Amino acid sequence: MNKQENFVILSFATLFLSTVATVTLAQSTVVNDEAIANSDQSGNWLAYGRTHSEQRFSPLNQITRENVTNLQPDWYFPVPNSRSLVSTPLVVDGVIYFIASLNVVRALDATSGEEIWSFNPQVGQVAPERMRAGWDNSRGISIWENKLFVATWDGRLISLDRTNGEQLWSTQTIDPELAMYVTGAPKAFKGKVLVGNGGTENGPNRGYVTAYDANTGEQAWRFWIVPGNPADGFEDEAMEMAAETWTGEWWRHGGGGNSWHGWTYDAELNQLYIGTGNGSPWNRKIRSPDGGDNLFLDSIVALDPDSGEYLWHHQNTPGETWDYNSNMDIVLADLVIDGETIKALMQAPKNGFFYVINRENGELLSAEKITEVTWASHYDIETARPVELPGVRYETEAIRISPGPIGAHSWHAMSFNPNTGLAYIPSIHSSTIYGDQGIDLEGFEREQWRLNTGVNSMPGGNTRDDAPASLQAWDPIRQEQVWEVLADSNWNAGTLTTATNLLFQGRADGHLLAYDAETGEELWDYDLGLGISAPPITYQIDGKQYLALLVGWGGSMAALGGSAAAEQGWSYGAQERRLVAFSLEGTAVLPRQPPPLIPQPLPSSDFIVNFDLAEQGGQEFNGTCSMCHGGGAIAAGIAPDLRASGIPLSREAFENVVRNGALSDNGMPIYKDLNDEQLESLRHYIRAQAEAALAQ
Ligand code: HEC
Repeated sequence: MNKQENFVILSFATLFLSTVATVTLAQSTVVNDEAIANSDQSGNWLAYGRTHSEQRFSPLNQITRENVTNLQPDWYFPVPNSRSLVSTPLVVDGVIYFIASLNVVRALDATSGEEIWSFNPQVGQVAPERMRAGWDNSRGISIWENKLFVATWDGRLISLDRTNGEQLWSTQTIDPELAMYVTGAPKAFKGKVLVGNGGTENGPNRGYVTAYDANTGEQAWRFWIVPGNPADGFEDEAMEMAAETWTGEWWRHGGGGNSWHGWTYDAELNQLYIGTGNGSPWNRKIRSPDGGDNLFLDSIVALDPDSGEYLWHHQNTPGETWDYNSNMDIVLADLVIDGETIKALMQAPKNGFFYVINRENGELLSAEKITEVTWASHYDIETARPVELPGVRYETEAIRISPGPIGAHSWHAMSFNPNTGLAYIPSIHSSTIYGDQGIDLEGFEREQWRLNTGVNSMPGGNTRDDAPASLQAWDPIRQEQVWEVLADSNWNAGTLTTATNLLFQGRADGHLLAYDAETGEELWDYDLGLGISAPPITYQIDGKQYLALLVGWGGSMAALGGSAAAEQGWSYGAQERRLVAFSLEGTAVLPRQPPPLIPQPLPSSDFIVNFDLAEQGGQEFNGTCSMCHGGGAIAAGIAPDLRASGIPLSREAFENVVRNGALSDNGMPIYKDLNDEQLESLRHYIRAQAEAALAQ
């Protein structure tokens, strides 16, 4: 409902009611399943994927293919103390809500960008040790009635009063001893709110999702994704069934399957779909030495939303061993296949196939490759299983496989336009060399808080000569590409499509583009001067349609992307992180962003590197610090490049930051358990890396 409509209601209502009460009444959308499932509610953007279908399709029609070139910034909001901005803002009754770095949530006037309230869950104060699990980003928040839900990095689920930002309740969703974290947008449905977690790389962890009562924060149910130790008894029949597909003592390694994203509530069929994660550790030979499918890794699992009970599943990659997960958006649509209307779900997970599933019964209808896929030749629809190629499990030697761990498609939102019938996928064309030669598979042990995947993985390069990434329009019925736009850089943001057949996407190179959703013709290109990782949304207030997005290079490429990502120049703190809203009448002027900056290693003649210590420090660094400061200490944007920092030159300053937590309020974790020798070794490693770069 927009304000003009409100006005009409208001005029009638004022005849009977006091004005104050009426304003509240007329302006308050009740955010419940009916509202979130209603694709016609267009002024608001009530949930992560706009509606429960997760289509990111808006019926708004003021911005068209003809006038899109007139879009100009209408307002902007500089987001302080921020870096990795990947979230989808929500809009209810003229207020825009969003989550930024360190899980700070803000409510702004959606017509002016003026701040109404902000809430800081103080992650750096509450849990500075837990920040070691990395991933200082959240993909979003959720709203139910007048409550707003925030899931924090350290695993709290917090409910706020969305009118004033005051905390109503908070519950811890993760055992604080475990190196797990939350980056997913909580999902509200049926008076409950669902939250998952990540952490398969950080320790021997076992994934689950939990639903809480939206009003009280009491746990409603929990669904475990992989089985635990049979000696402890299984939580439910699904776990008993899943245990049949594991071998050895898998529970010692956690098993993984963590569902950190990809949750869809189906209001029509009263089902909940969760996308599950990869194995922990990645290498199946360690996890489940005699093979097996390892349910429910890398699957789509349908659950009863009231009880959390298992209904059905489809496993995308049986026995995954390449960090393939299905934590990508699960999009619902009615598709007419062979003359029959099918209640379908669609997903383009990491493994490179595009899946269409009948969501009434979980039947796989089709699965085709959207990029270069070398681990399987094709999908066998009869058995609903992939046909693997020989040698792909690096049995005897390392092998180059595509896609790699960043996937053919990651969490960057896929949209679906029911008018064009097309899905729009930000896709990646890269490969990885996997091997485990030299790793003690039988003796493999792992601690919490340390990156260790049980695989030697190395970048294998792009799989296409023409582009590292592309935006694809995919026909889910014919299972073929309809058009494609190549991108010069990798890790581009999620998409939005509208009833006027527009398609919007922000890119890693800082450009926001509009395309003709039918043909892929480029219609508009706006340079925002900083890599974009968040998807745009659209909303309408007082008859004016807005297009809004967060601008702040983020996610795993900004953490671990190495020199390829660092070359973009979106280095830590160099450019201002912003929320920007465009309209056809916009007159705001965005201050120019500083140009791309590649931090230069700091020379020092006083620091004499001890290479033995440096080697030891390298192990430490790549097991802990690299998650934010980059592999080999080459930072890609979410944390400072330590080769360019003066702090490692001083033992005292370094200790103050690393062991005493001087910068924990800014997102730098605290490492109380590092001893003096470890600290010294880290300094020597960082300086050795600085000197190696200077010598080049
Ligand atoms: C979760 C992400 C994360 C991890 C993991 C992490 N850091 Fe940091 N680190 C940061 C951020 C963010 C900053 C910048 C804080 C600020 O702006 O004040 C920082 C700053 C620093 C600084 C100060 C740099 C400067 O010039 O201001 C040092 C030194 C440092 N980190 C060392 C380490 C070491 C050593 C490790 C591993 C033991 C580590 N960090 C692990 C995120 C991280």
